[in-house]
Amino acid sequence: MVLSLVVVGFVMQELPNSPTKIEVYALHKSFGLTLLALTVLRLLWRLFAGTPAPVPGTPRWQQAAAQASHGALYVILLAMPLSGWLYNSASGFPLKWFGLFSLPKLSGYDADVKAFALGMHEWLFIALAVVVSVHAAAALKHHYFDRDATLVRMLPGLPPPAGRERND
Ligand code: HEM
Repeated sequence: MVLSLVVVGFVMQELPNSPTKIEVYALHKSFGLTLLALTVLRLLWRLFAGTPAPVPGTPRWQQAAAQASHGALYVILLAMPLSGWLYNSASGFPLKWFGLFSLPKLSGYDADVKAFALGMHEWLFIALAVVVSVHAAAALKHHYFDRDATLVRMLPGLPPPAGRERND
């Protein structure tokens, strides 16, 4: 869903002005708000159910780095839709979730807040791309170089790394 939002977020701006463009913007916003709700649910579940223990033998600095990148991912997944919502509010547009119900405005019309929120939406995308890339590179390093169970735990169903039994 995040990947689709990113692709649609860029493509929709290039569409010629038309009812379809308005429709695509509305879908981007509704799916973005859905992602916000899912992120909150996931964080609540994490609080309730806890997180898996680190793979045995993981150095402490790597545990700290993993925790920091998970924290950054959650902050971005909350801040990205909130900045979009703020941008929409400060632009003076109404906001409906899939046309079903209206959401409150986070701000009145305000050109400065609008510019700030749009800047945040763009910078958060860059931060997301960096954190996701580092996160994925680290998982691949664990799988192909360290040959431990890190990636297998992230992608259940993936066969264990060559030359290693499952270790989770
Ligand atoms: C995690 C959820 C979201 C992701 C990953 C995401 C991603 C993006 C990306 C990559 C862009 C294009 C780059 C940019 O101009 O910033 C964009 C544009 C945009 N997004 Fe989002 N978005 C999300 C949620 C939302 C929400 C909830 C809203 C509004 C309620 C929203 C409103 C917009 C608008 C209005 C634009 C176009 C800005 C313009 O026309 O210049 N987005 N989004």
